[in-house]
Amino acid sequence: MRASQVAAGETIAQQRCAVCHGDQGQSVAPDFPRLAGQNANYLYKQLVDFSEGRRRSPVMLDKAQALSPEQMYAVGLYYQGLKPSVTLAADAPLAQVGQFVYDRGNPYTSLPACVTCHGTGARGTAELPRLAGQHPEYLIKQVKAFKSGDRANDNTIMHLIASRVSDMELQAVATYLGGLK
Ligand code: HEC
Ligand code: HEC
Repeated sequence: MRASQVAAGETIAQQRCAVCHGDQGQSVAPDFPRLAGQNANYLYKQLVDFSEGRRRSPVMLDKAQALSPEQMYAVGLYYQGLKPSVTLAADAPLAQVGQFVYDRGNPYTSLPACVTCHGTGARGTAELPRLAGQHPEYLIKQVKAFKSGDRANDNTIMHLIASRVSDMELQAVATYLGGLK
Protein backbone atom coordinates (compact mmCIF):
# COMPACT_ATOMS: atom_id res chain seq x y z
CA MET A 1 0.00 0.00 0.00
CA ARG A 2 2.66 2.44 1.09
CA ALA A 3 4.99 1.60 -1.84
CA SER A 4 2.21 2.19 -4.35
CA GLN A 5 1.33 5.49 -2.63
CA VAL A 6 4.94 6.63 -2.91
CA ALA A 7 5.00 5.66 -6.60
CA ALA A 8 1.77 7.59 -7.22
CA GLY A 9 3.27 10.56 -5.35
CA GLU A 10 6.40 10.45 -7.48
CA THR A 11 4.40 10.61 -10.72
CA ILE A 12 2.48 13.67 -9.49
CA ALA A 13 5.66 15.34 -8.20
CA GLN A 14 7.52 14.87 -11.47
CA GLN A 15 4.62 16.11 -13.58
CA ARG A 16 3.30 18.99 -11.49
CA CYS A 17 5.81 20.07 -8.84
CA ALA A 18 9.39 19.45 -10.02
CA VAL A 19 9.50 22.52 -12.26
CA CYS A 20 9.58 24.71 -9.13
CA HIS A 21 10.51 22.42 -6.24
CA GLY A 22 13.28 20.61 -8.12
CA ASP A 23 13.74 17.21 -9.61
CA GLN A 24 14.50 15.57 -6.23
CA GLY A 25 12.66 18.10 -4.06
CA GLN A 26 15.91 20.03 -3.74
CA SER A 27 14.98 23.31 -5.39
CA VAL A 28 17.82 25.62 -6.34
CA ALA A 29 16.00 28.97 -6.21
CA PRO A 30 15.21 30.18 -2.66
CA ASP A 31 11.73 31.34 -3.71
CA PHE A 32 10.74 27.69 -3.76
CA PRO A 33 11.01 25.71 -0.53
CA ARG A 34 12.92 22.46 -0.51
CA LEU A 35 10.55 19.57 0.10
CA ALA A 36 13.05 16.67 0.20
CA GLY A 37 13.02 15.05 3.64
CA GLN A 38 10.10 17.20 4.83
CA ASN A 39 7.59 15.38 7.05
CA ALA A 40 4.61 13.90 5.22
CA ASN A 41 1.93 14.98 7.71
CA TYR A 42 3.25 18.54 7.70
CA LEU A 43 3.27 18.58 3.87
CA TYR A 44 -0.27 17.24 3.83
CA LYS A 45 -1.46 19.95 6.23
CA GLN A 46 0.15 22.71 4.15
CA LEU A 47 -1.48 21.43 0.96
CA VAL A 48 -4.89 21.34 2.66
CA ASP A 49 -4.27 24.86 4.04
CA PHE A 50 -3.27 26.16 0.57
CA SER A 51 -6.29 24.53 -1.09
CA GLU A 52 -8.70 26.04 1.44
CA GLY A 53 -7.03 29.45 1.33
CA ARG A 54 -5.97 29.28 4.98
CA ARG A 55 -2.35 29.62 3.88
CA ARG A 56 -2.42 32.29 1.21
CA SER A 57 -0.27 31.71 -1.86
CA PRO A 58 -1.39 32.79 -5.32
CA VAL A 59 1.09 30.27 -6.77
CA MET A 60 0.16 27.23 -4.67
CA LEU A 61 -3.64 27.74 -4.53
CA ASP A 62 -4.55 26.05 -7.82
CA LYS A 63 -1.76 23.46 -7.57
CA ALA A 64 -3.15 22.29 -4.22
CA GLN A 65 -6.79 22.50 -5.32
CA ALA A 66 -6.01 20.15 -8.20
CA LEU A 67 -5.04 17.37 -5.76
CA SER A 68 -7.37 14.97 -3.95
CA PRO A 69 -6.63 14.34 -0.25
CA GLU A 70 -5.17 10.94 -1.21
CA GLN A 71 -2.88 12.57 -3.77
CA MET A 72 -1.76 15.19 -1.23
CA TYR A 73 -0.77 12.49 1.18
CA ALA A 74 0.93 10.39 -1.51
CA VAL A 75 3.04 13.31 -2.72
CA GLY A 76 3.96 14.09 0.90
CA LEU A 77 5.09 10.51 1.48
CA TYR A 78 7.20 10.65 -1.68
CA TYR A 79 8.97 13.87 -0.65
CA GLN A 80 9.49 12.66 2.92
CA GLY A 81 11.54 9.76 1.55
CA LEU A 82 13.96 11.93 -0.45
CA LYS A 83 17.37 12.99 0.78
CA PRO A 84 17.46 16.59 2.10
CA SER A 85 20.09 19.04 0.86
CA VAL A 86 21.89 21.95 2.54
CA THR A 87 23.00 25.53 1.92
CA LEU A 88 26.49 25.83 3.38
CA ALA A 89 26.66 28.72 5.82
CA ALA A 90 28.73 31.51 4.29
CA ASP A 91 29.14 33.29 7.63
CA ALA A 92 30.32 30.91 10.38
CA PRO A 93 30.20 33.34 13.34
CA LEU A 94 26.63 34.33 12.40
CA ALA A 95 25.68 30.66 12.20
CA GLN A 96 27.01 30.19 15.73
CA VAL A 97 24.75 32.94 17.02
CA GLY A 98 21.97 31.14 15.17
CA GLN A 99 22.76 27.89 16.92
CA PHE A 100 22.45 29.66 20.28
CA VAL A 101 19.07 31.09 19.29
CA TYR A 102 17.92 27.71 18.04
CA ASP A 103 18.98 25.83 21.17
CA ARG A 104 18.33 28.44 23.86
CA GLY A 105 16.10 31.15 22.39
CA ASN A 106 16.66 34.57 23.92
CA PRO A 107 16.12 34.42 27.69
CA TYR A 108 16.32 38.24 27.90
CA THR A 109 13.34 38.80 25.60
CA SER A 110 11.40 35.61 26.40
CA LEU A 111 11.97 34.20 22.91
CA PRO A 112 11.34 30.45 23.21
CA ALA A 113 14.02 28.09 21.93
CA CYS A 114 13.18 26.65 18.52
CA VAL A 115 14.53 23.24 19.53
CA THR A 116 11.65 22.62 21.94
CA CYS A 117 9.31 22.17 18.99
CA HIS A 118 11.41 21.71 15.84
CA GLY A 119 13.61 19.16 17.60
CA THR A 120 17.24 18.16 17.77
CA GLY A 121 18.93 18.70 14.42
CA ALA A 122 15.83 20.66 13.31
CA ARG A 123 14.35 17.54 11.75
CA GLY A 124 10.85 18.37 13.02
CA THR A 125 8.27 15.78 13.96
CA ALA A 126 5.36 14.25 12.08
CA GLU A 127 3.33 17.44 12.46
CA LEU A 128 6.12 19.99 12.71
CA PRO A 129 8.25 21.10 9.79
CA ARG A 130 11.83 20.10 9.29
CA LEU A 131 13.89 23.31 9.07
CA ALA A 132 17.36 21.79 8.54
CA GLY A 133 18.74 22.43 5.06
CA GLN A 134 15.93 24.77 4.03
CA HIS A 135 16.82 27.89 2.02
CA PRO A 136 17.64 30.64 4.56
CA GLU A 137 15.76 33.24 2.48
CA TYR A 138 12.64 31.07 2.54
CA LEU A 139 12.83 30.58 6.33
CA ILE A 140 13.18 34.34 6.86
CA LYS A 141 10.29 35.07 4.52
CA GLN A 142 8.00 32.63 6.34
CA VAL A 143 8.81 33.93 9.82
CA LYS A 144 8.15 37.49 8.60
CA ALA A 145 4.88 36.31 7.05
CA PHE A 146 3.83 34.75 10.38
CA LYS A 147 4.67 38.04 12.06
CA SER A 148 2.73 40.26 9.65
CA GLY A 149 -0.20 37.84 9.62
CA ASP A 150 0.23 37.21 5.90
CA ARG A 151 0.74 33.54 6.80
CA ALA A 152 -2.12 32.92 9.17
CA ASN A 153 -2.50 29.13 9.05
CA ASP A 154 -0.77 29.00 12.42
CA ASN A 155 -2.09 32.05 14.11
CA THR A 156 -1.00 31.24 17.64
CA ILE A 157 2.35 29.55 18.09
CA MET A 158 4.50 30.83 15.23
CA HIS A 159 2.84 34.23 15.25
CA LEU A 160 3.94 34.65 18.88
CA ILE A 161 7.48 33.44 18.16
CA ALA A 162 7.77 35.65 15.09
CA SER A 163 6.64 38.72 17.01
CA ARG A 164 9.49 38.21 19.50
CA VAL A 165 12.37 37.36 17.15
CA SER A 166 14.65 40.25 16.13
CA ASP A 167 15.96 40.70 12.59
CA MET A 168 19.46 39.80 13.73
CA GLU A 169 18.27 36.63 15.49
CA LEU A 170 16.25 35.65 12.44
CA GLN A 171 19.18 36.13 10.03
CA ALA A 172 21.40 34.15 12.36
CA VAL A 173 19.04 31.24 12.96
CA ALA A 174 18.21 30.97 9.23
CA THR A 175 21.93 30.92 8.36
CA TYR A 176 22.50 28.17 10.93
CA LEU A 177 19.53 26.09 9.77
CA GLY A 178 20.35 26.32 6.07
CA GLY A 179 23.70 24.66 6.70
CA LEU A 180 22.36 21.92 8.95
CA LYS A 181 22.31 18.40 7.54
C1 HEC B 1 5.05 27.51 -10.22
C2 HEC B 1 5.88 27.05 -9.12
C3 HEC B 1 5.32 25.98 -8.19
C4 HEC B 1 4.80 24.75 -8.53
C5 HEC B 1 4.58 24.16 -9.91
C6 HEC B 1 4.52 24.09 -7.27
N1 HEC B 1 4.87 24.90 -6.21
FE1 HEC B 1 4.73 24.43 -4.22
N2 HEC B 1 5.40 26.30 -3.71
C7 HEC B 1 5.72 27.29 -4.61
C8 HEC B 1 6.02 28.50 -3.88
C9 HEC B 1 6.41 29.86 -4.47
C10 HEC B 1 5.88 28.20 -2.50
C11 HEC B 1 6.06 29.15 -1.28
C12 HEC B 1 4.72 29.77 -0.95
C13 HEC B 1 4.84 30.74 0.21
O1 HEC B 1 5.64 31.68 0.10
O2 HEC B 1 4.18 30.54 1.22
C14 HEC B 1 5.49 26.79 -2.43
C15 HEC B 1 5.26 26.11 -1.25
C16 HEC B 1 4.91 24.77 -1.17
C17 HEC B 1 4.75 24.02 0.07
C18 HEC B 1 4.98 24.53 1.49
C19 HEC B 1 6.31 24.00 2.00
C20 HEC B 1 6.65 24.40 3.40
O3 HEC B 1 7.81 24.15 3.79
O4 HEC B 1 5.82 24.92 4.13
C21 HEC B 1 4.38 22.76 -0.28
C22 HEC B 1 4.08 21.60 0.65
C23 HEC B 1 4.32 22.71 -1.74
N3 HEC B 1 4.65 23.94 -2.24
C24 HEC B 1 4.00 21.58 -2.45
C25 HEC B 1 3.86 21.53 -3.84
C26 HEC B 1 3.39 20.38 -4.56
C27 HEC B 1 3.03 19.04 -3.93
C28 HEC B 1 3.36 20.74 -5.89
C29 HEC B 1 2.90 19.89 -7.07
C30 HEC B 1 1.56 19.32 -6.97
C31 HEC B 1 3.83 22.12 -5.98
N4 HEC B 1 4.11 22.56 -4.71
C32 HEC B 1 3.96 22.83 -7.17
C33 HEC B 1 5.78 27.16 -5.99
C34 HEC B 1 5.35 26.07 -6.73
C1 HEC C 1 5.95 25.99 20.52
C2 HEC C 1 6.38 25.33 19.30
C3 HEC C 1 7.28 26.09 18.32
C4 HEC C 1 8.43 26.79 18.61
C5 HEC C 1 9.08 27.05 19.96
C6 HEC C 1 8.93 27.24 17.32
N1 HEC C 1 8.11 26.82 16.29
FE1 HEC C 1 8.36 27.17 14.30
N2 HEC C 1 6.64 26.17 13.87
C7 HEC C 1 5.82 25.58 14.81
C8 HEC C 1 4.65 25.01 14.13
C9 HEC C 1 3.49 24.29 14.79
C10 HEC C 1 4.83 25.26 12.74
C11 HEC C 1 3.91 24.82 11.61
C12 HEC C 1 2.79 25.78 11.41
C13 HEC C 1 1.90 25.35 10.27
O1 HEC C 1 1.10 24.43 10.46
O2 HEC C 1 2.00 25.91 9.19
C14 HEC C 1 6.08 26.00 12.62
C15 HEC C 1 6.59 26.46 11.42
C16 HEC C 1 7.78 27.16 11.28
C17 HEC C 1 8.32 27.61 10.01
C18 HEC C 1 7.74 27.40 8.64
C19 HEC C 1 8.49 26.27 7.94
C20 HEC C 1 8.10 26.02 6.52
O3 HEC C 1 8.60 25.03 5.97
O4 HEC C 1 7.35 26.81 5.93
C21 HEC C 1 9.51 28.25 10.31
C22 HEC C 1 10.45 28.90 9.32
C23 HEC C 1 9.68 28.19 11.74
N3 HEC C 1 8.61 27.52 12.31
C24 HEC C 1 10.79 28.73 12.42
C25 HEC C 1 10.94 28.72 13.80
C26 HEC C 1 12.06 29.35 14.49
C27 HEC C 1 13.20 30.07 13.81
C28 HEC C 1 11.85 29.17 15.84
C29 HEC C 1 12.70 29.67 17.00
C30 HEC C 1 13.01 31.10 17.01
C31 HEC C 1 10.61 28.41 15.97
N4 HEC C 1 10.09 28.16 14.71
C32 HEC C 1 10.06 28.01 17.18
C33 HEC C 1 6.03 25.52 16.18
C34 HEC C 1 7.08 26.11 16.86
